[in-house]
Amino acid sequence: MKNNFWQQLNKPIIALAPMAGITDSAFRQICKGEGADLVYSEMISSYGLAHGGKKSFNLCCFKEIERPIIIQIFGRDPKIMGEAALIIEKKFKPDGLDINFGCPARRVVSSGHGAALMDEPELAEKIVRHISKKIKIFLSVKTRLGAKKKTEIFDFAKRMESAGVQAIAIHGRTLKQGFKGEADWQPIYKTAKLIKIPVLGNGDIKNHGEIKEKLKNLAGVLIGRGALGNPFIFNQKEKPDFKEIKKVILKHASLAEEEKKERGLIEMRKHLCWYIRGIPKAKQLRQRLVQIKNIEEIKEILDTAYARCHCEERSDEAIQEMSRLPRPPTAASQ
Ligand SMILES: Cc1cc2nc3c(=O)[nH]c(=O)nc-3n(C[C@H](O)[C@H](O)[C@H](O)COP(=O)(O)O)c2cc1C
Repeated sequence: MKNNFWQQLNKPIIALAPMAGITDSAFRQICKGEGADLVYSEMISSYGLAHGGKKSFNLCCFKEIERPIIIQIFGRDPKIMGEAALIIEKKFKPDGLDINFGCPARRVVSSGHGAALMDEPELAEKIVRHISKKIKIFLSVKTRLGAKKKTEIFDFAKRMESAGVQAIAIHGRTLKQGFKGEADWQPIYKTAKLIKIPVLGNGDIKNHGEIKEKLKNLAGVLIGRGALGNPFIFNQKEKPDFKEIKKVILKHASLAEEEKKERGLIEMRKHLCWYIRGIPKAKQLRQRLVQIKNIEEIKEILDTAYARCHCEERSDEAIQEMSRLPRPPTAASQ
């Protein structure tokens, strides 16, 4: 039971990374539709789950179409983490459960959560061991290279493996780095040689072509920011044309509305801005898109933009066509 879902995954695994405030059910469905092999939920508080918090429970909901899905939790109390893990297994039945040992956000780290636990490897190990004994579903961990040093991951990953973790995703930065500098994949490759469980690499993948370059000896990759406004990154295709992007945007918006009503559309505004990156006059479009209140408005704004793009393409073609015409004779040549 524990390994079944992992064995059936497409390999190498190209997964949507967990992103708080972003990888909700609507966005996960969109990424799945564009070819993501695996999706992660946003990080969810173990305290919220153990105390019956509605918000935490809502974050755990997903549609069958999103499978295979991993739900991620954070916390630092082994007992509460164990309770939350059991609730997730029993009530929501995802394919896997992931523990967040990688979040660098100040409010998370200052209370000893997320990546702060890389500085307390004994406690991190205790949490994993406790959860591993409680649940039957697949158990993974997402972490960084270390709290301060890039080499901390070697010992940390071994600890995780021996405590019962079945896969580990590693973001190629330390906690100290936050999101600064470039992700370093070399320690991730080295970790994959040191342990037997699958290792997924993560950090700075910007296009589909880079996936193959980065994979090397890894079981797969996680893509986070590279999928914002570009869920097509999971697909082999080049970024599609505006007409196709528009179709995906409207589908995303209707899923967001279905999932969270008006709030879904308000949250959709940031996605709209990401989707239109690179489109002519994106700045003006953005000003209108951050105010949308319903799907009709999105459609109308995109239709106008599409017509203008088309018009500009046609006038570009006309200019090129004109430049190919024989030049009219000048006064001097006559
Ligand atoms: C807005 C945002 C929210 C994130 N939330 C989470 C989270 O909830 N859990 C987690 O493990 N990582 C989280 N991350 C980290 C990403 O999963 C990923 O490790 C990081 O963005 C590096 O990958 P990328 O360069 O492909 O974006 C978040 C990142 C961003 C940008």
